[in-house]
Amino acid sequence: MHRKILVTHALPYANGSLHLGHVIEAVQTDVWVRFQRLRGHDCLFVCAEDSHGTPIMIRAQQQGQSAEQLIAAMAAEHQRDYHDLLVAHDHFHSTHSEENRRYTFELYARLRDAGYISRRAVRQAYDEQAQMFLPDRYVRGICPVCKSADQYGDSCEVCGATYTPADLIDAVSTLSGTAPVWRESEHLFFKLGAFEPMLRGWLAAGEQGSAVRAKLDEWFAAGLQDWDISRDAPYFGFEVPDAPGKYFYVWFDAPIGYIASFEALRAQRGLDFDSYWKSETQSELYHFIGKDISYFHNLFWPAVLHGAGYRRPTGVNVHGFLTVNGQKMSKSRGTFVTARRYLDHLPAEPLRYYFAAKLTSGIEDIDMNLDDFLARTNSDLVGKFVNIASRCAGFIERGGGRLDTQLPDPALYAEFVAAGERIAGLYEQREYGAAIREIMALADRANRYVDLHKPWALAKDPAQAPRVLAVATQGINLFRALMIYLTPVLPRMSGAAGRFLGKPITAWSDVATPLLGVPLGAYEPLATRLDPALVGRLIEAPPAPAAPAAAPLAAPVSRPATAPASNTIGIDDFSRIELRVARVIAAERVEGSDKLLRLSLDLGAEPRQVLSGIRASYAPEQLVGRLVIVVANLAPRKMRFGVSAGMVLCASGEGDGVFLLGADSGALPGMKVT
Ligand code: MSP
Ligand code: ZN
Repeated sequence: MHRKILVTHALPYANGSLHLGHVIEAVQTDVWVRFQRLRGHDCLFVCAEDSHGTPIMIRAQQQGQSAEQLIAAMAAEHQRDYHDLLVAHDHFHSTHSEENRRYTFELYARLRDAGYISRRAVRQAYDEQAQMFLPDRYVRGICPVCKSADQYGDSCEVCGATYTPADLIDAVSTLSGTAPVWRESEHLFFKLGAFEPMLRGWLAAGEQGSAVRAKLDEWFAAGLQDWDISRDAPYFGFEVPDAPGKYFYVWFDAPIGYIASFEALRAQRGLDFDSYWKSETQSELYHFIGKDISYFHNLFWPAVLHGAGYRRPTGVNVHGFLTVNGQKMSKSRGTFVTARRYLDHLPAEPLRYYFAAKLTSGIEDIDMNLDDFLARTNSDLVGKFVNIASRCAGFIERGGGRLDTQLPDPALYAEFVAAGERIAGLYEQREYGAAIREIMALADRANRYVDLHKPWALAKDPAQAPRVLAVATQGINLFRALMIYLTPVLPRMSGAAGRFLGKPITAWSDVATPLLGVPLGAYEPLATRLDPALVGRLIEAPPAPAAPAAAPLAAPVSRPATAPASNTIGIDDFSRIELRVARVIAAERVEGSDKLLRLSLDLGAEPRQVLSGIRASYAPEQLVGRLVIVVANLAPRKMRFGVSAGMVLCASGEGDGVFLLGADSGALPGMKVT
């Protein structure tokens, strides 16, 4: 049966870099998509940048750029990461797009006209200084239950209690530090409760695992609440057409981004919209997501689709969370590994292989233990699997470079072929870990076959040459069968193996016909062992505690010639600090501070605001036009007087004032300092 399938994974938020948690999700999805294609199905894979919402708006402001600039830069970064991880979307769109606006308006109008939208006033925290309503996460205060200080407005990290920001004691806005006031404002609500019977039926027909089902039952038992789908201006999103000053909540238009991305692909390829989005029988629709966003995908999303006359997903595939060395990824512990940090050190395929080996269809958390990662890559992927090809290739080459015309052990090959359907079933069910175990068990058998026939010993006797060629031909064909089964996980290696074999791997069913009598290409190592030192470097040393403000910046002159190792840094550490030339465009004193100047800097592309403690040594008018050196990749810091996005470098001695470092004239803003 030929299937038409549309697949998505969760849209990454435009306010942060991809980390290994995002990567495991993208790999899980990409493997499934590649598997379906290899099986001959028509499988489309779309994604998009999740571009709306308060955090993105605030972050853009802090960086002194427009939200559009921020999301464009992040979308480019994310796509480069996915590309380098061999995650091959057919299309990558943005929720801040015309297509998404059109479908968001359309679905909203259909829901409204069908009576599923209501309006009522809600009381919300309002920051009078920032002049905006505050999302719960932007209000902090003392937990009303256990009295722990500095807790978020929706829940307490100490005792786990959930509540509303109004319940917090001594609440403050994280934007301005002022106490919020409580204001009423009218909001739009989606009547989720109206869909309970429909949702129960949909979930019963689907294949949600028991853990997902248990969670959903909990939510049904608690009762489905109306869902607030609007937010007040200022908000970065789509303004609600019939409610001026109100914007669609990011989570309303984000999943509609799946439709928008498909629509952009449809326009390019001339696909049929309705068979994908209006029919539940003409195509299949799957979303891959993490367990934290199950409520949105298993309740809101099918209800919104159904209420608006669209098809519901065929399946929502929920995975657990990735931990690194047994711990939640954490910036302070250095276990927060970005996709780029990984890619800067190591190739993509060992990671894809490792994640596949750990993935199941369940929602248990998955640990990436770095020693285990190293061991699995070096002993399984390279030591067992690639080893089959590398130990046989030389015998073929020395025997004339052409495979024998028949297999000496067709029964063994037939066993490898027969395993294919079992392995395919495991991929289909997202039991990749079990699939990899089957494949590695076969790799052991292939190696045992070669060990048993000892071609290296036979090769010493010229009369045994035909036997050597036969054994190596069997080995190469066993390798090829396994390479076909690993193609969804290792697409690049599969391409290279196809070149070596003189025949690209294009279908799962290729396994049915062994390769015989054909010349092989030159063998290049398909994978090499990973260097433990590089794997070790994935985890950063936790950031050193900030030096006390009074400490002298310069090191003492009497430093010994050979500095202790703990004081030296490698070139890698140094290159992580991005120093750039900047021109001061404007400078002004900061009201209420006797130390700070507010500098506007030109760094080539984006203008930046930096607060610099140089007021005692420089008058603002002296600075305009000067070239200075800036730490450009310092995370923006929120200070009492605003946000500072970078640091201007100065020399200083005790009591002597500070001296700006500059660049010689001729240097241009944005140039890298190395
Ligand atoms: N933008 C929303 C999704 C909108 S979908 C219409 C979002 N973005 S996210 O960037 O926070 O997360 C994207 C995906 O990454 C989610 O499926 C989330 O579960 C997953 N993960 C984030 N951290 C993760 C781990 N540590 N481990 C595994 N997956 C994790 O939510
Ligand atoms: Zn508490």
